Amino acid sequence: MQEELHVGLAEEKRKETVAGLIELLSNNYVLYLKTHNFHWNVTGPMFQPLHSLFEAQYIDLWYAADKIAERIRALGFLVPASYEDFAKSSKIKEVVGVPHIKAEAMIKQLVEDQEIITRLARELLPKVEKSMDQVTVDLLSERMEVHEKNAWMLRSFLE
Ligand SMILES: [Fe+2]
Repeated sequence: MQEELHVGLAEEKRKETVAGLIELLSNNYVLYLKTHNFHWNVTGPMFQPLHSLFEAQYIDLWYAADKIAERIRALGFLVPASYEDFAKSSKIKEVVGVPHIKAEAMIKQLVEDQEIITRLARELLPKVEKSMDQVTVDLLSERMEVHEKNAWMLRSFLE
């Protein structure tokens, strides 16, 4: 469902942006839950720093979900927001059941997932720039900065 808006952004452009933002939100939410899962289930000698790093990252992802969803609303569309919807539109796959994986494998998965979201945002960016939607451009740019930084911090544990 879309609402009528008079903010200088054509409906077709907003629709395209929202489709991208829904994909971003879905991946963000799946990664939020996975990171929180790993915060709970990580084991090994690096437990404490990983437990803390995962916490900082899942908190950011939780707040980001709200920001992305509210941008979709400001663009005049409703937000599909169930676990089923998120799983359907997410490239990032969740870990089902108790994760019997080592800390290093958790980190590798999270690095890949952080990079998936960075690429999604980067692919969406030129379309949004073209429609002069600076607010969404800023949001995407802010999210890319966070995800690139998260991937770097996670990668550093593997060296
Ligand atoms: Fe906790």
